[in-house]
Amino acid sequence: MKKVLVLVLASLLIFSFAVSAQEMTLRLADNQPEGYPTVVGAKEFARLVEERTDGRIKIEVYPGGILGDESSTIEQVQFGAIDFVRTSITPMANFEPAMNVLSLPDLYPSEEYMFQVLQSEIGEGILEGLKDAGIVGLTWYDAGARSFYTADKKVTSPEDLEGLRIRVQESQLMMDMVEALGASPTPIAWGEVYSALQTGVVDAGENNYPGWYYNSHHEVAPNFVEDEHNRIPELIIMSKITWDKLSAEDQKIIKQAAVDSTEVQREAWDKRTEEAKKLAVEEGATITTLTPEQKQAFQDKVKGLYPKYSEGYEDLLNSILNFEMEE
Ligand code: GCU
Repeated sequence: MKKVLVLVLASLLIFSFAVSAQEMTLRLADNQPEGYPTVVGAKEFARLVEERTDGRIKIEVYPGGILGDESSTIEQVQFGAIDFVRTSITPMANFEPAMNVLSLPDLYPSEEYMFQVLQSEIGEGILEGLKDAGIVGLTWYDAGARSFYTADKKVTSPEDLEGLRIRVQESQLMMDMVEALGASPTPIAWGEVYSALQTGVVDAGENNYPGWYYNSHHEVAPNFVEDEHNRIPELIIMSKITWDKLSAEDQKIIKQAAVDSTEVQREAWDKRTEEAKKLAVEEGATITTLTPEQKQAFQDKVKGLYPKYSEGYEDLLNSILNFEMEE
């Protein structure tokens, strides 16, 4: 009997050692095209993981939405069919309403302010909360500020948006925001926005400069108005099912590699934003910048989102608004 027990224990030990030193190939989904700053960040993450595990853990990056649209890839992460997704955070608000608070209009005075908030205990606390939804949040990525772009009508005030059909993410917050501006929101998956603009299913979209340019939306919606209504950061998330299969050391390597990839993503972000603006204009699109007063007119219309979306999350909202930035 004792012998059997010893044998069982020994084989368990050998087995767990084999698992911890396991070689694996994991998959990461991104709905942006090859060369896009988030894909550059994801590839840096993959490179660091491979290097730091001596090639034991490989991550294949699948850009361009080939593993599915954003919402479906998040679900696949929850049940373990995909290991990682680089995603915008609003589609996660269905199961983590704090994501809506982080995406409220006019919330962060600057990009740097936003990053310091996200990389502080505030952001870490939100990532921790995702575990209940089967998700391990690894690191935040930059996605600049979002603005409107239209197919025909030039926009300089919220009144100009009235009656337009505007594509939004699959997000209640973004639907409410567009409605508050007097337009009709139409949720459409990112990969289908180009044809929705081209065929006139929608009159406008809203996103950052790289999103607009590197998905060729400037060809079919060439009027970009830099109203900068909100900032919606992005995340690299991981399936908790995959996470739980890893040794503690490998978990640490993965988390750190993701965090370390952020710098490369942010650099690529800044570079590609400038490039997108320049190339879009060279290719015939127009960019309208607004005065602070003109921008404020958009913000005034959407202030009503604050009470609705911070209900039950007042402490979180206040901690963001009162956050003390480090130099
Ligand atoms: C951003 C983000 C995408 C997202 C898109 C959208 O560009 O990078 O992940 O899908 O917004 O508006 O849907």
